[in-house]
Amino acid sequence: MKSDPMWHTLGTMSPLTDSHGRTKRKLRISLTDRCNFRCTYCMPEHPDWLPRASLLDRGEILRLAGLFVDQGIDQIRLTGGEPLLRRDLVECVSAMQGLRERGLRRLSMTTNASRIAPLARTLVAAGIDDFNVSLDAVDPVVFRQLTKREVAPVLDGIRALADAGASVKLNAVVVRGDNDGEIVPLLEWAMAQGLPLRFIEYMPLDAPGHWRRDAVMSEAEMLAAIGVHHRVETLARSSDPASPYQVDGRYPLGIISTVSHPFCASCDRLRLTATGELFTCLFSPVGTPLGTRLREGADDATLEAIVRRAVWLKDAGYASRPGPVERPITMHAMGG
Ligand code: GTP
Ligand code: 5AD
Ligand code: SF4
Repeated sequence: MKSDPMWHTLGTMSPLTDSHGRTKRKLRISLTDRCNFRCTYCMPEHPDWLPRASLLDRGEILRLAGLFVDQGIDQIRLTGGEPLLRRDLVECVSAMQGLRERGLRRLSMTTNASRIAPLARTLVAAGIDDFNVSLDAVDPVVFRQLTKREVAPVLDGIRALADAGASVKLNAVVVRGDNDGEIVPLLEWAMAQGLPLRFIEYMPLDAPGHWRRDAVMSEAEMLAAIGVHHRVETLARSSDPASPYQVDGRYPLGIISTVSHPFCASCDRLRLTATGELFTCLFSPVGTPLGTRLREGADDATLEAIVRRAVWLKDAGYASRPGPVERPITMHAMGG
């Protein structure tokens, strides 16, 4: 009965909704907190990695993902850290294909792409529908300053994804004084490649005490910098995190402006860390330990009830309490 798509389409359960009337459709699953990059806006210089034994195994991830899909989640994004550091990544992707008959419509991945080149075709064949690649600078020196790593393998990875026929979007976090000079070069590089780009305002989710308000390059400031060289038109907003623009009448640009224009009123996302903690908001100070309850032997009905309650209690979001959040994990363990 459970594998019959109709059973799921008709749905025995109402969708996951919070007390602010927002329905959840997207789940971000962090496969590992490990990352081979050290982006200064994302993690401390010397991160405390989660204990290996605490990371969910493939079967556990699949069981939790299935619970969410059965409750109306139809888009899953695999994140990290860096998902390519997960040894059984391809097996995870293959195993998740079984969720399509239960209602999953899209399986995506966010990656730094530095290790993706040899696996690009395999991942597309295994069923990743689209990739978001972080690229904060095209200049090798600026890139190294921000990430402490080289840009060349990332550019190779982007090329390999394009050659494999993958759908790719680029993400660039802009930090004033670090890579604001790269806004126009990045845009022009992405336009030349024909790859959509989103600039992202720097959010206060990195190492404690690191974020400063004046390091945030706002959406308006980014638009002003671009406007000196290009014609920019504003398009109508959807439920995507990015405000959409069209550059020079043809190129799709997005700006994710959580700090200057929080979009919490339309938030349709949930996040699961690599240990199975459910965060209902990127800025939640604490998560709900679903993974722990699963390991204690909780059955599906109990886990579903825990999820429903946590989602119902999801608070208004960044808009209601702007600024840094104090909690033990930073962005790299949250998966962005
Ligand atoms: P798609 O819209 O599915 O392409 O992906 P995405 O933008 O949700 O995912 P991605 O991993 O590429 O994230 C890009 C940036 O958007 C990162 O900085 C995320 O932290 C941020 N982001 C994604 N979802 C949310 C959200 O719900 N709230 C906030 N404030 N930021 C988000
Ligand atoms: N502010 C905004 N975006 C961030 N990301 C990581 N840290 C931050 C931050 N402090 C982005 C990464 C990646 C995505 C998953 O999250 O660049 O594209
Ligand atoms: Fe959603 Fe929280 Fe982001 Fe607002 S800050 S959009 S509520 S995840």
